[in-house]
Amino acid sequence: MRGLGNLGGSHVFILKKLLHDPAMAVAGVLSKLTPDRIPVTFAGPDASLELCESIAHMRCEKVLIVTDATLVEIGLIDRITKALDAGGLGWSIYSGVEPDPTFSHVEAGFAQLEQEGCKAVLAVGGGSPMDASKLIAAMATNGGQLRKLEGMLKVRQAPMPLFAIPTTAGTGSEVTLAAVVADPETHTKKFFLDPRMIPTMAALDPNLMVGLPAPITAATGMDALTHAVESFLSGWSTRTTESHAKVSIRLIFDHLHAACSDGGNVEVRKAMALASYYAGLAFTRTSLGYVHAIAHALGAYYRTPHGLANAIALPHVLEFSKKPAERRLARLAELIGCDGASDEEKAQRFIDAVRGLMAKIDIAPKHDALVEADIAPLAGQALREAHLNYPVPRYMSQPQCEALLRQMIA
Ligand SMILES: [Fe+2]
Repeated sequence: MRGLGNLGGSHVFILKKLLHDPAMAVAGVLSKLTPDRIPVTFAGPDASLELCESIAHMRCEKVLIVTDATLVEIGLIDRITKALDAGGLGWSIYSGVEPDPTFSHVEAGFAQLEQEGCKAVLAVGGGSPMDASKLIAAMATNGGQLRKLEGMLKVRQAPMPLFAIPTTAGTGSEVTLAAVVADPETHTKKFFLDPRMIPTMAALDPNLMVGLPAPITAATGMDALTHAVESFLSGWSTRTTESHAKVSIRLIFDHLHAACSDGGNVEVRKAMALASYYAGLAFTRTSLGYVHAIAHALGAYYRTPHGLANAIALPHVLEFSKKPAERRLARLAELIGCDGASDEEKAQRFIDAVRGLMAKIDIAPKHDALVEADIAPLAGQALREAHLNYPVPRYMSQPQCEALLRQMIA
């Protein structure tokens, strides 16, 4: 565990925050002091089968597979159940997870886990099944009350063994401590943050990603890019998280366009899976920023897919943060090979490169459903989330956030 003396360059940020916002400053210190916990990870074609073999060695008896109906329909789950059969493991499939899972989705999964007597949870899918799995595994050992686990560090007992097989390259949820649940009644998202929810083992299997349609590949890839960029600009970043974020950003600029245009290319899919993984490692330590706060609000209001909402907001938020984050953005420009006579110029080049990448993968920085009447409440919701959770380079007022959102109206 690190001592306070090893907090690195961000200690100045934390001290400043301590004067203005003690809760956030304490969260920042906690994030530095929490030991690194990284799942044992298999990567490469058929890594998911290796993971299933390893689960069999752990003698978990019966596994609850948490996924969504589409992955069952297209037969992708069959590969997993065959591998579990080969290892002599029992299994039960809960496929009731929908995009932006609600409390009832998670609670139904937990009920099935109890009914079936499962002793471990295996997430197969995108961010939604993975988030639901973390919570089901935590409920199993913590009294079964989901609402009692909401917030930070509420998982008192270690969850049931939890394994993750992402089928998209975006959320990085296979390595993060976070789960998000939607509350449709209040148009809000509820956060569950605890390092105990980091999966025990994960598999990055590009064979499970080759059939992903281009628009989903594009949006989820932009989610990963946003994780990496927001982590890199975070006041809680460290040398390690910066290094993970840079690996991710480089991989995404090199491979996301190809993943969209040549989705059957296993090597490209593997590169994007690694990009998502490294971005997850980075942001699970540093938290995120305004892009995610705005994306969560858009998701809650319009059910905008998370990655798409991030992509739309990203260039606007980077423009807003440009001046105080100039040096850091310039370093990212250098990383992806953009030149410039000054940091200011390089920072702008990086933001332009983000826009260029979005154009190549057919994402416009505008939101079709966004209307003037929703701007003020959306901004209010985004700022409440950001100012409680995110150590951003430049803070935004309500009018500034509203102006930024107006730029996103189609
Ligand atoms: Fe995200």
